Amino acid sequence: MPQTQQDRESSVTKLAKISFSRIDAPKSGIAVLLAGEDLSLGSTATEIVAGVEGGLARSADIAGFDGKKGSSLDLIAPAGLGLDRLLVFGLGKADDISRDDWRALGGRVFAALKNAKADAATVVLESPLEGELSNEHIAEIAMGAKLRAYAFDAYKSKKQGDDPAQDLKLTLKVADPKGARKAWTAAEGIADGVILARDLVNEPANVLGPVEFAKKAEELGKLGVEVEVLGEKEMKKLKMAALLGVAQGSVRPPRLAVMRWNGGKKGTAPVALVGKGVVFDTGGISIKPAGGMEEMKGDMGGAAAVVGAMHAIAARKAKSNVVGVIGLVENMPDGNAQRPGDIVTAMSGTTIEILNTDAEGRLVLADALWYTQKKYKPAIMIDLATLTGAVLVALGNLNAGLFSNNDELADNLLAAGKASGEPVWRLPLSPGYDKIIDTPNADVKNTGGRWAGSITAAQFLQRFANDVPWAHLDIAGTAFGAPKDDICQSWASGYGVRLLNQLVADHYEG
Ligand code: BES
Ligand code: MN
Ligand code: ZN
Repeated sequence: MPQTQQDRESSVTKLAKISFSRIDAPKSGIAVLLAGEDLSLGSTATEIVAGVEGGLARSADIAGFDGKKGSSLDLIAPAGLGLDRLLVFGLGKADDISRDDWRALGGRVFAALKNAKADAATVVLESPLEGELSNEHIAEIAMGAKLRAYAFDAYKSKKQGDDPAQDLKLTLKVADPKGARKAWTAAEGIADGVILARDLVNEPANVLGPVEFAKKAEELGKLGVEVEVLGEKEMKKLKMAALLGVAQGSVRPPRLAVMRWNGGKKGTAPVALVGKGVVFDTGGISIKPAGGMEEMKGDMGGAAAVVGAMHAIAARKAKSNVVGVIGLVENMPDGNAQRPGDIVTAMSGTTIEILNTDAEGRLVLADALWYTQKKYKPAIMIDLATLTGAVLVALGNLNAGLFSNNDELADNLLAAGKASGEPVWRLPLSPGYDKIIDTPNADVKNTGGRWAGSITAAQFLQRFANDVPWAHLDIAGTAFGAPKDDICQSWASGYGVRLLNQLVADHYEG
């Protein structure tokens, strides 16, 4: 793990602005160029490098820079040029550059400029390879830079190293500035959605309770999203006893927030996104061990992904109808908390025996899913939840667990995962697994024990999806705590925003 390198990245450079202008050779300041394998360069880069006394070859040779993917060369005040610094990034082979690579490149360019303590830089984005660099790829590079720049430092009263906060202005030199700017406008809305989700997950639970979270959802009103927030009284009336049972141990009242984006044809059934929003999960009476419990401030990662996706979809004015529903509660032990052995009746009429109060996410989702399908009659319904530790055992931090009652929806999500760089891996559902959560005392119990824990949790949810094409994404491994990478240096990843946005863009738009 390149942890130490990343831990050293402690100054507070933020990406202030990305602007676009026509390609030419920068004459001063810091310039960034791209090189293909074997140091092939585009025409402007060739022109710049021609001005370097003695050319690039000797420095490249000494530094071992060969233009391979992931490599870079840093020349300080190269003789012959007016530039303070010339950075060259390797792209590798032309046929081997994916969308993920362009995004990672943007992240690495930002990191290098931050290390150089740059406050401005010019990046010459011409392809040294076959063909033009498309505006979509340029937007992907910009998104990588913006996501890499994110840091959760709102609570640091003294910034590390005593550096005054510094802003970095990036100018991207491109063939078609107008087209690139347009592509970036859409992509920036998506990046802002990811950053919003990261902020929500990183925020501590003393600051972000159910009420405060619902207020954050209401802020989407600025983008034209209709937001409605249900309180305890309304939920009682709807008989949401599964959700309310989880909330009853907390002094902070629950909320159910509904966000509607009506960008599609009137009357078209919406895409429904449902999120688990447990603002803190102590486990309740089945209390969790102390070690690592602080991570449970992120147990609203599903709700954060839904809010972030709604932001992305609204910001780029998607021609689609999308409804987001998030169940917001805090799971606490208390004199009024629910107990193991309690039986509650969910909104659907299903009776649930609670064997472990730490299996609370599925109780929240039971009512949120039932309500969503009943009220909004969605074309499809996708829930996201930091639902089980078991999905971390199965898939680690690199794939979310995907469960679905519909092969077409599952395939679409697998494809959207690949395209967006937020991958999912499908795990099975079947009547045999469903039987594991039968109980003599009620219609269903809320845990099936240790084995296949992620699957039995998904079987539980399926009972509340009714017959709607539904998918469940268990994001317990991907929402937070993943190793830092080229585009994420934060504990919270914002996972799910790009995936959901991609699915909507590919299948439910226009
Ligand atoms: N929020 C947790 C799952 C979790 C664990 C998320 C680790 C992220 C990281 C969930 O509410 C939970 O406690 N699940 C239990 C279920 C069990 C009691 C059946 C679990 O996974 O242990
Ligand atoms: Mn729990
Ligand atoms: Zn939980």
